[in-house]
Amino acid sequence: MRFGTLLATMVLATMAACPTLAADTAAPYTVLITGANRGIGYELARQYAELGWTVIATARKPRESADLQKLAKTWDNVRVEKLDVTSDRSVRSLAARYKGVPIDVLINNAGILGDITAQKYGTYDFDVYDEVADVNFKGPLRMVEAFMDNVATSRQKKIMNMSSAVGSIEMTFGGQVFYRSSKAALNMAMRTLSKEVKRDPDPNRKALIFGMINPGIVDTGFAKNVPVPMITARESAEKCIAVIESYTPDKSGTFLDYNKGAKLPW
Ligand SMILES: NC(=O)c1ccc[n+]([C@@H]2O[C@H](COP(=O)([O-])OP(=O)(O)OC[C@H]3O[C@@H](n4cnc5c(N)ncnc54)[C@H](OP(=O)(O)O)[C@@H]3O)[C@@H](O)[C@H]2O)c1
Repeated sequence: MRFGTLLATMVLATMAACPTLAADTAAPYTVLITGANRGIGYELARQYAELGWTVIATARKPRESADLQKLAKTWDNVRVEKLDVTSDRSVRSLAARYKGVPIDVLINNAGILGDITAQKYGTYDFDVYDEVADVNFKGPLRMVEAFMDNVATSRQKKIMNMSSAVGSIEMTFGGQVFYRSSKAALNMAMRTLSKEVKRDPDPNRKALIFGMINPGIVDTGFAKNVPVPMITARESAEKCIAVIESYTPDKSGTFLDYNKGAKLPW
């Protein structure tokens, strides 16, 4: 069976399993999440699956993620795909598989902190900076380039990005300079795109909604030994989903907090 046919069959099967959603919207919404094998990305995938969405859960090494494999076994609306956001080839190959398939919400979640000691002046390691930049803002841009029309032809048209409060220039308090500047660059890149698409002659592209979300300080092992209270990935994902839901066209290009969608300073 061709992949497009397979996906359509899957969508119809999910509709049959979720009569209320199907009656309301004709077909379930679709979300594509990067870095969905663990942490916040996994929780987003799990919760969207529970909500009845078609979930394209991507990971660098999906076969090694027992959680993701179990999720796909539990929910027939979850598809697991291999994706490395630093690889043009990997991103293009996934985009080719999904050509013509509407994706309501693309979540650029994959992110790395990078070795902290490599980010201290006097011991900068610029190879580490390249890795951080490649995953944290070049990766999301690659994804936008490859999946823009999948999102533009969907009903929700949302390109959402897991940013960070530490990417806020106004709130800077020092430390993690590679990571901070990568998230500031992510914010700038997505805000720029939110303005650029407004000049696109294609009405679907013009209507794209870009969001940058701070997911909170989350107990995923991402920021080890940070002496501050942390929230669980479950709580973060639940609140991020509510914020994604709250992104209306007038909010495109804004930087919002996971907590009730409060506007964050640049
Ligand atoms: N946790 C926090 O406190 C916090 C705070 C603010 C912002 N954030 C942001 O929230 C997002 C998720 O964070 P998290 O705490 O869930 O982190 P995490 O648990 O460390 O998970 C990071 C995810 O990114 C994936 N990833 C890394 N490099 C990748 C690549 N080249 N291609 C595809 N996927 C890649 C990882 O996959 P592998 O398993 O293959 O490495 C993993 O699935 C990140 O963007 C992070 O910057 C987190």
